[in-house]
Amino acid sequence: MDIRDYNREAWDAQVEQGNQWTVPVSSQVVAEARSGQWEVLLTPTIPVPRGWFPDLDSCDVLGLASGGGQQGPILSAAGAVVTVFDNSDRQLQQDRHVADRDGLTLSTVQGDMANLGAFADGSFDLIFHPVSNCFVEDVKPVWRECFRVLRPGGLLLAGISNPAMFIFDATKREEGKLIIRHRLPYSELTDITPTERQAFTDKSDPLMFGHTLEDQLGGQLQAGFVLTALFEDSDPSNPLSQHMPTYIATRAMKPTMAE
Ligand SMILES: C[S@@+](CC[C@H](N)C(=O)[O-])C[C@H]1O[C@@H](n2cnc3c(N)ncnc32)[C@H](O)[C@@H]1O
Repeated sequence: MDIRDYNREAWDAQVEQGNQWTVPVSSQVVAEARSGQWEVLLTPTIPVPRGWFPDLDSCDVLGLASGGGQQGPILSAAGAVVTVFDNSDRQLQQDRHVADRDGLTLSTVQGDMANLGAFADGSFDLIFHPVSNCFVEDVKPVWRECFRVLRPGGLLLAGISNPAMFIFDATKREEGKLIIRHRLPYSELTDITPTERQAFTDKSDPLMFGHTLEDQLGGQLQAGFVLTALFEDSDPSNPLSQHMPTYIATRAMKPTMAE
């Protein structure tokens, strides 16, 4: 299976199914953002602190795997020059829909987050990357590409899953059961049975991967970033959230001078 092709079709289908991460923001939210009142999510529930952002006026922002008509339009209305990049054309259509409806300017580019070859070195001041690298097998190229396309002093704001989420049997989670089954790194291409995978693909559920913290946080450091802030968040629908935070948001900076 080509995972990128499969997950593209799966996310296109998620738009039709009304998955919450595909529902565009309202005109009212855009109007509020225009007047300076806005918030955006990297993780399920806690808005990113405003102090994490640079001045957005004329700031070149890449919304990385951020389609769905949510963060891109809000950051555009708040004054940024936004490019939304995503693997799913239906997700990007949601951004174009909001832009057309509310008179916003933003660009959309379809592609794979591990290959940002569409952009020259040093193209952006800010990358906004909500939880989405659980849909790619290898996260290290993503961090390297982020580093390349940011300007010196540029910021990478990223949402990641806590790897602990992936050691439990996903087929039992909906019953509220936490049964330890897998080891990390986890892959739904290889670590579940064909019948279990079929149950996901029958519903057009995107297939996921669980990465280690070494790949997630260490990968950012290895790419050259300096981590400057972090918070944890939870998804109330996941029973593990009753025991520990299940998501992490990070703020990382590309140093102005190579060390
Ligand atoms: C959970 S949604 C995130 C977007 C959403 N606006 C949010 O607030 O979280 C995950 C996104 O990652 C995208 N995606 C999955 N695999 C990708 C890949 N290889 N390259 C780029 N985007 C990808 C999906 O199409 C989807 O839009």
